[in-house]
Amino acid sequence: MLAARSALRRRWLSAAGAGTGSVQPRGPPRLSPHVVDLRSDTVTQPCPAMRRAMARAAVGDDDYGEDPTVNELQRVAAGTLGMEEALFVPTATMANLIAVMCHCQRRGAQVILGRDSHLHVYEHGGVAQVAGVHSQALPDLPDGTFDLELLELTVREAHGSRYHPRPELVCLENTHSSAGGRVLPLAYLQQVRGLADRHGLQVHMDGARLMNAAVAQNVEPARITQHCDSVSLCFSKGLGAPAGAVLAGRRDFVAEAWRMRKLLGGGMRQAGVLAAAALVGLEHVGVKLRRDHDNAWRFAEGIQELNLPLCSVNLMAVETNIVMVNISGGCPSPAELCEHLRAVSREELAKTGHAVSVLLFPWSAHTVRAVWHCDVSARDTELTKKKLEFVARKCQEKLTLGLRPTPPSVGGA
Ligand SMILES: Cc1ncc(COP(=O)(O)O)c(C=O)c1O
Repeated sequence: MLAARSALRRRWLSAAGAGTGSVQPRGPPRLSPHVVDLRSDTVTQPCPAMRRAMARAAVGDDDYGEDPTVNELQRVAAGTLGMEEALFVPTATMANLIAVMCHCQRRGAQVILGRDSHLHVYEHGGVAQVAGVHSQALPDLPDGTFDLELLELTVREAHGSRYHPRPELVCLENTHSSAGGRVLPLAYLQQVRGLADRHGLQVHMDGARLMNAAVAQNVEPARITQHCDSVSLCFSKGLGAPAGAVLAGRRDFVAEAWRMRKLLGGGMRQAGVLAAAALVGLEHVGVKLRRDHDNAWRFAEGIQELNLPLCSVNLMAVETNIVMVNISGGCPSPAELCEHLRAVSREELAKTGHAVSVLLFPWSAHTVRAVWHCDVSARDTELTKKKLEFVARKCQEKLTLGLRPTPPSVGGA
């Protein structure tokens, strides 16, 4: 049986030409492009130091509170965030949901959040599905803030009527992802705090990218979170860890959060292997994120200086690691532009000397999103700028000839 199987394997290998060098490629050799992945800061690979820390991590059963590395991460994170305690959870989505579940204790309570916030749009309505909480979604202004008059009016109206659900919580997002990584001003946070106190509301901050905000404002994260009752922080974005987030707040809040994590199935056991990576992610975080912000800014500025057809960037809106590129004219669409940027051609190689596949995210009807992170270098940033220039000019040439720009079919990633 074994002999028959290995004969079969030998025959298959020789038919495939494996190991013999006998396979002749048909047509011109494929381009193997250099890939720059800017779709999100969630795509990072754990760095060698992280992998070493994970391999060496001391672990225990965290459900019994016996994982020393998780305990250490929770202690460090609470200190960094200026909160009494922190709880390690699998994702920022779970951290946000637990926060809502803990703050909104009454059935049918209302959470006030941004219409474009991650919590409202991308977390499967967990606040309704799981927490049984009603969402009052307010428009997010372009800088990621709420109109404070509207916020106050909304709360007053609800409090003044026995027909309205009762607001108990305001959720903020900092940095604000769909606004393009905008940082909430400290004075604004203070005003929200004042408003919440006047009306007996709690404030939760979705701080998945809180560290980016702190770096951009050049303040300790605790200066930002002093205006909040709780905050979530994600380790698998700019911090480069493979998974995990924390939810931080007062001691009694975190004790309740522990129960909710258990309810949601988020209690992990030897989670120290993940916490170890997060601890490495927190080391020198300011330096690492500053580099991402600088690269994002260099790219945005470069695109504006090139004065490209079809593409532009609002430099005033570039504050952290996210750049929204505006696409004018409707052709190519954001999705088509992303296809052009992903594909590589021999013409690109001949004209620019590079074969680069750039991955961006088609964000809205008129924008594509580029997010910088620790796996994107200054050279990658320069190559991305060149690629966008090449693609934008090529598309414009076609449009001038009355042709529809179609992405080349050669190569790609
Ligand atoms: C602002 C914001 N909050 C929360 C999340 C959810 O993070 P996770 O993927 O860890 O659940 C994301 C993810 O992209 C995010 O951008």
